Amino acid sequence: MDRLNIIGGAQLNGRIPVSGAKNSALKLMVACLLTDEPITLTNMPSLADTRFLAQLLETLGVEVYWPKGESTCHLNAAELKSTIAPYEQVRKMRASFNVLGPLIARSGHATVSLPGGCAIGARPVDLHLQALQAMGADLKVESGYVKAAAIQGLKGAHIVFSMPSVGATEHAMLTATLAKGETILENAAREPEIEDLADCLNSMGAKVSGAGTSTIRIQGVEKLHGTTHAVMPDRIEAGTYAMAAAAAGGDVTLDGAPVEALGAMIAKLREAGVTVDADEAAHTLRIRRNGTRLKAVSVSTQPHPGFPTDLQAQFMALMSLADGTSIIRETIFENRFMHAPELSRLGADINVRGQEAVVKGVPHLTGAPVMATDLRASVSLVIAGLAAEGETVVNRIYHLDRGFERLETKLNACGANIQRLSGEDE
Ligand code: EPZ
Repeated sequence: MDRLNIIGGAQLNGRIPVSGAKNSALKLMVACLLTDEPITLTNMPSLADTRFLAQLLETLGVEVYWPKGESTCHLNAAELKSTIAPYEQVRKMRASFNVLGPLIARSGHATVSLPGGCAIGARPVDLHLQALQAMGADLKVESGYVKAAAIQGLKGAHIVFSMPSVGATEHAMLTATLAKGETILENAAREPEIEDLADCLNSMGAKVSGAGTSTIRIQGVEKLHGTTHAVMPDRIEAGTYAMAAAAAGGDVTLDGAPVEALGAMIAKLREAGVTVDADEAAHTLRIRRNGTRLKAVSVSTQPHPGFPTDLQAQFMALMSLADGTSIIRETIFENRFMHAPELSRLGADINVRGQEAVVKGVPHLTGAPVMATDLRASVSLVIAGLAAEGETVVNRIYHLDRGFERLETKLNACGANIQRLSGEDE
């Protein structure tokens, strides 16, 4: 298992290109199942998760042409040879579950494993299933699998979600494109990735309006066609590097940043005393901090446009060095503070009480071996390691490879000292 060896203390100076968004790419890839014509996705992030989904699509019969190191991925679902998504695949990457609705829409039936729990929370899929049922899918759960059929075809439905779920909104939207009649999704999630998916679906001939608001309307069509679509830039990757620069100090410009999608984070960084120049037209975000200590700022994660849960761990790393006490509240997932005890190993003073973490800023962190249980938690340890004195070893970095493209290359180009080591965990 690989690990990262970080020698902390160096300021970051330079430019970092932002990659395509993992959480958008995964749903855009699934959209290929809705048409027998080819789909080309550009700006694709080459990550463990996107490569993994490509493999699942291949087992369903999709022809995938995506050479290593390339950011253009061709998907062709001209003929499906299976409508079964097995446990081994869905368990490893939850977004795989989103093939269920598109497979029913395309083939009339599907068998997809339930994803099970996850390191950050129980993450049920009840809202996904309710939406598919409302559209006329007959669902049975047997031996951990959802067995679904829509003998009469899917029909439009009026669905009011009990909470805004990104995955359920996207899943319902994908499925409704080929249902008969109109589907209305209320209390839909408003994340930018949902707009990206709607744009791609519309370029395939779908009729989706209102994505990015809490009411989405989808007028079903008979058939969708092929398209070429550029994956939106990754707001979480951009936010992560912004916080790395803020923690380590220096002057970093993020190129190709989705500035308009990062409002809540930018506001919090400025409140903490970081200089942020955000240029929406140029898609750049310049982050500067020289010498002065950060101010403690409290934050509560919220659905978009609030502060994203996917940046909570990174913000905690930053606040562990701030002057004062900040309260970090996690409202989306019930178990997303696994990084707190690891940050404490570097000398952070963090007290977790239920859904709240009380972070008393310390003047210095000191390097130590650490490990993490999920993607964003792992990268928060990298941020802390960059700012810490001495050497930090981050174990289990396969989590990082799921969601960050060329992480150490991008940070080292700005003066970080990170080395990837192969071999056993420490
Ligand atoms: C997406 O997960 C992202 N994943 C997550 O990113 C992100 O943290 C999350 O949205 C919130 O922004 C992908 O896009 C692949 P939700 P998703 O459905 O869709 C509950 C990362 O690190 N819920 O909006 O699974 C759920 O348990 C990952 O990249 C139900 O109760 O998130 C959670 O508490 C981690 N029933 C809340 O809703 C359901 O049927 C929000 O989850 C569905 C969700």
